[in-house]
Amino acid sequence: MLLLIGGKRGLKKPLLKVLRCPKCQRSLFISENNANLNEIHETTLACEKGHIWKVEDGIPSLVFPSVSSKDAKWIAQYEEMAESYDDLVKQYDDWLGIDMMKERERIVRFVPIEAPVKILDVSIGTAATFIALYNAFQGKQMERFNLHGLDLSLGMLKVAKQKIEKRSLDISLVHGNVFNIPYKNNSFNIVYHSGGINTFSDIGLALNEMLRVVRSGGIVVVVDEGLSPDMRESEKGKEIIRTNSLFAARPPIAYLPEKVKDVEMNYIMNGTFYEVVFRK
Ligand SMILES: C[S@@+](CC[C@H](N)C(=O)[O-])C[C@H]1O[C@@H](n2cnc3c(N)ncnc32)[C@H](O)[C@@H]1O
Ligand SMILES: [Zn+2]
Repeated sequence: MLLLIGGKRGLKKPLLKVLRCPKCQRSLFISENNANLNEIHETTLACEKGHIWKVEDGIPSLVFPSVSSKDAKWIAQYEEMAESYDDLVKQYDDWLGIDMMKERERIVRFVPIEAPVKILDVSIGTAATFIALYNAFQGKQMERFNLHGLDLSLGMLKVAKQKIEKRSLDISLVHGNVFNIPYKNNSFNIVYHSGGINTFSDIGLALNEMLRVVRSGGIVVVVDEGLSPDMRESEKGKEIIRTNSLFAARPPIAYLPEKVKDVEMNYIMNGTFYEVVFRK
């Protein structure tokens, strides 16, 4: 039974079972005297080593170590564009001849039939992919989903939270860095990432972390801008790269951890994005 204060989502205690202290990897506990509430909005979390982490507006902040200057530069941009991010992405629709919200529904391909499924969206941004998942299921079956979103930009998380609350969705949000995901090993059936990896300062470490938190037999899906070979050679492709150099990126195959299984690579969205899928 959910306890909602004015429709606002707080931190729910079961989340603590899957989180870990980003400094020492130990379990986290609520350190203040509000442990009897079902949903907590403002508090602090602590591990048994005494490392303390803030929860503000229901979002635990578990960022450690400090962010590198290259990543910080990107995060500053996301903080600035958070409110207009969805409108900016919408511009891809006409330009690339796609319907991005429909394309995001591809995540359904990785969802098993009927079984409960636990998904982490790494770099959830404004929660657009989980909203597409909800749209694809027309709001049905949502009780079998256990959804989590991690992002390093508090501005993006704030927008995600507003959208989640407006739709009464149940998604746990965490402020954290992909290079030290504050979740325990083997926590998820699906780890999904879209839109950030091309600019990450350490792509190999990010993929290793995604692999660490997915369960054995689970799937990691990574999607980002990157033209297919045909598209790269075409006039349209050249124009796309001139306008936005991120589209010149190549799929991060060389950075895949050694032990991954069943690697698949597809070009999607009219050959403008790559999708790399692998299994643990
Ligand atoms: C282009 S947006 C994509 C958002 C969303 N996944 C989508 O498909 O719309 C990239 C996201 O990556 C996040 N990000 C960038 N660096 C990160 C890092 N080191 N750890 C976690 N998230 C990061 C940004 O804050 C931003 O929300
Ligand atoms: Zn600790």
